[in-house]
Amino acid sequence: MPLINWDETMSVKVHELDEQHKTLIALINEAYEAIQKHDERVMTELINKMRAYANMHFATEEGYMKKFGFPEIENHKFKHVKFNNEVDDFKKKQFEKTNLSQIFVFLSQWLITHIMDEDMQYVPYVPQKRDKEEQE
Ligand SMILES: [Fe+2]
Repeated sequence: MPLINWDETMSVKVHELDEQHKTLIALINEAYEAIQKHDERVMTELINKMRAYANMHFATEEGYMKKFGFPEIENHKFKHVKFNNEVDDFKKKQFEKTNLSQIFVFLSQWLITHIMDEDMQYVPYVPQKRDKEEQE
C-alpha cells in the first residue's frame, strides 16, 4: 500500500476541513512507516491517535454541514458513528491477535473513500466565495 498524498482533487472547498484531512492522511502515512518497521507500540499509539483525531474532525465537519444546510447530514453522521464502531471492533480483535496492519488498511481505505465519495457530497452546499467583496 503506497503512501498517500493529499491533492486538490481531495479538496472539500473548506480550508479548515482540508487541513484536518491532511492531518489524517499524515497520521495514516506515519502508521504506514510504523508497519514497515513492525513497530507495534507506535502502530497502536497511532491507531488511537487517529481515532481521536477523526472524532474531533467529524464534529467540526458536522458543524459545517449543519451551517451549510446539507440535507444528507443525518446519513453522513451515521457513517461517522459506524466508523467508530468498526474501529472499536478492530481494537477488540487486536487482543485476539488480529494483525495490526489490517486495522491500518481499514482506516486508510475508509478515510480516503470517505473523503472522496461521502465528503464530496456536501461540497455543492459550501457557499461560493467568488471575490473578496462577497466574503463575510
Ligand atoms: Fe465525513
